[in-house]
Amino acid sequence: MEMPAIPQPTFYIFKCEQSAPPGMPKPSCVTEQSRDLFNHLAQSMMQKGLMGPVQPIRTSCLGRCQMGPVMLVEPGHHMYCQLSKEKIDRIVEEHIIGGNPVQEFLIPDQFWGEPINLSR
Ligand code: FES
Repeated sequence: MEMPAIPQPTFYIFKCEQSAPPGMPKPSCVTEQSRDLFNHLAQSMMQKGLMGPVQPIRTSCLGRCQMGPVMLVEPGHHMYCQLSKEKIDRIVEEHIIGGNPVQEFLIPDQFWGEPINLSR
């Protein structure tokens, strides 16, 4: 029996959910102040009927801890940094719904250079 194809999501949103143990000097994306950002993102998706076409995913460290909280929007390799609920709301409205990445919230170029070229 042939199964109908399951459509791909339009966007994946990888939200770093890494926290550092108490006393660890290294910064991390999840702190007391930022622990509910993923739930805020997920609730916003549900309220707007975006779950399915958009898939928010909890990840561990994305390697840009000093600029956290961060989340990566794919396709496009858009890394958003120093997130807050207000920033997430604008990213959902302008990037996810509107199709225009929010340039002012993207990680600065010195922290997010060109992709590493694997061809030799
Ligand atoms: S802890 Fe979030 S990028 Fe490293």
